[in-house]
Amino acid sequence: MPITRRKLLGLMSSSTFFLTVSPGATLAAQLPAGSVPLDFPQGVASGDPQPDGIMLWTRAVPRTDSDEAVNLLVQLSRDADFSTPLLQAHLSANPQSDYTVRSYIDGLAPNTQYYYRFVSGSAGQDESVSRVGRTRTAPAPDHTGKVNLAFASCQSYEQAFYGSWARMLEDDNAAAEDERIHFVLHLGDFIYERCWKERPGGGPNSRTVPPFPNGVDTPENRYAVSLADYRHLYKTYLSDPHLQEARANWPFICTWDDHEFANDNYQSYTSYDGPGVLDAQRKTDANQAWFEYIPAVLDELQEQPAHGFQRQPQGRDEAARNQAALDSLRIYRKLNWGKTLDIVLTDNRSYRSAPCLPAGFAESLGMPMNSVELVAIADAGSAYANGQPPATLPYGDGTVANPARDRAPGSLLGTEQREWFLDTVTNSVAAWKLWANALPLMPMRLDLSSLPMTGYEDSIFSIDGWAGYPYEQGLLMQAFEKAKVTGVVSLSGDHHMHGAGSVAYSTTDTNARPVAVDFTVAGISSTPIFEDLLAVARNDHPDFAPVVYRQTDDGVEPVWNISMLDGVLAAYTYAETGISVLTDWLGPNTANPGLRYVDTTVNGYGLATVEADKISVQLVAMQDCRREFVKPPAIAHIAHFSLPRWQAGESPQLQGPEFEGGAPFPFEPETV
Ligand SMILES: [Fe+2]
Repeated sequence: MPITRRKLLGLMSSSTFFLTVSPGATLAAQLPAGSVPLDFPQGVASGDPQPDGIMLWTRAVPRTDSDEAVNLLVQLSRDADFSTPLLQAHLSANPQSDYTVRSYIDGLAPNTQYYYRFVSGSAGQDESVSRVGRTRTAPAPDHTGKVNLAFASCQSYEQAFYGSWARMLEDDNAAAEDERIHFVLHLGDFIYERCWKERPGGGPNSRTVPPFPNGVDTPENRYAVSLADYRHLYKTYLSDPHLQEARANWPFICTWDDHEFANDNYQSYTSYDGPGVLDAQRKTDANQAWFEYIPAVLDELQEQPAHGFQRQPQGRDEAARNQAALDSLRIYRKLNWGKTLDIVLTDNRSYRSAPCLPAGFAESLGMPMNSVELVAIADAGSAYANGQPPATLPYGDGTVANPARDRAPGSLLGTEQREWFLDTVTNSVAAWKLWANALPLMPMRLDLSSLPMTGYEDSIFSIDGWAGYPYEQGLLMQAFEKAKVTGVVSLSGDHHMHGAGSVAYSTTDTNARPVAVDFTVAGISSTPIFEDLLAVARNDHPDFAPVVYRQTDDGVEPVWNISMLDGVLAAYTYAETGISVLTDWLGPNTANPGLRYVDTTVNGYGLATVEADKISVQLVAMQDCRREFVKPPAIAHIAHFSLPRWQAGESPQLQGPEFEGGAPFPFEPETV
């Protein structure tokens, strides 16, 4: 891997160290006399494996109140008992980075497991040693073997315990060596800036984030507003033993979604209540905390757009302040696992255009949600209909002035990132291009026009995700189609549900050919989306109850799954009759073409085995994660999928689901 100019400086910032493993060279490093003992309350972690390097991380805190920098050693070994150390080097931690330390170590062998730990104090007395971390480098560029990975998202600390991480750990420790997970891909919402005081349907959370150092407190929730608050969240989340164990056990590769900064944010703007509000200082603070607590390889690689945290001079006007916050950290990047796969991580928040329609727009027109047509016109802006956008937007029996007529088309990635992304994917020579994409490509559309006599139009559940940016999704998929790119698989989170389906080159033509596949993973612990919908249907929109749930003697059935898979007419009919065979007669659903699977009531995670000729994916659904546990909770069921590699000119043929241990409503279990 080429070294950067920065690397030659040896030390990039006060919290990042570059170290190289070479025979015997750095084994002699010792702690300076008087080094104080340290605690490592957030454990250890590693991130972004390279064929010859890895980023190691810890937080090393003095045991007595102090604002002095402290000394520590990092040790690296091939053996868990450190009997044959490869490196021992001196680091320091300081309060400016909240005592977090990043240490990029290269000179390593590819596809190799290593152990690491951090040491301070004086040998014999006051010695302090961190827990031992295990990590693994990426394979060499010519590697053709299989790669095992886990993917995860949405891990609210409060809404459930981390049974998903505990289950993943226990099963992986019991697995055969060649089945074990090589790394974890985290698709965002690692923390939640907002702490709701109750569950969606009422009742207490599983646990509570301690009070923020600053924070804002409203009747419904509390949220982070300062650097100290965001650091507080990472420290609280990483105090959990299972998340800490997961980070010590596997290297993590992380991108973010909205909650690492603020709910449904765009650029440096927050939008809790209606219009976006510039919150540039807070975005900068959120970026700094992410950089301090999430080990990622950013400046360390050449030809990489990513860079580490750099606080920028404050801008004079709104645009400059917004830009300065965005420029403080750039996380989109690519990692490689030989000829088998590239992982392309995007930042789906920092460069996106504002929502194409203002909050409350549909409601102001008396519509339940934005229609597919309204969003298509508003998002394409001045480019709609080959540059002939209508002066008015249609709704119901009326029209309203088109607010986006003169606006540039919407973009979720921003022009610069989009060009990088397309270049990276289309030029990739790996068999598979895994897109670490925080937001699902599969839309959650409701074909409400199929409900007779209502006057409803086909609608989009939320315009915060790709469904609100159909113009750019179309551009990307058409580019893949045109360049005959194969092997593009999006791994996404955010929706708090499992899902799988193929993605067509057109977002409007329901007969368009699929060109990619999307797997959406349920939250590790965040409230499953069905519970949010259930609360809304019960409390605010009883008219929508039949497309959301059906009350039975045994409880509640998630009819929403039928709405997504077979359409709202099928869902409505099932809710009224309880006869499932009718859903087959009334499908298929043209609102969500390509969608093969949804499971909206569970927490869980994804596992993938990537080989040159196929990807096998398991979407793992957990039993109840809300109760504190000693023994990790059991798996409820697993949906298995297989995706053979397709050739240029062919379409992906997603196979599955096949079920293990049961199946979610309305699927019938089969045996794998
Ligand atoms: Fe989330």
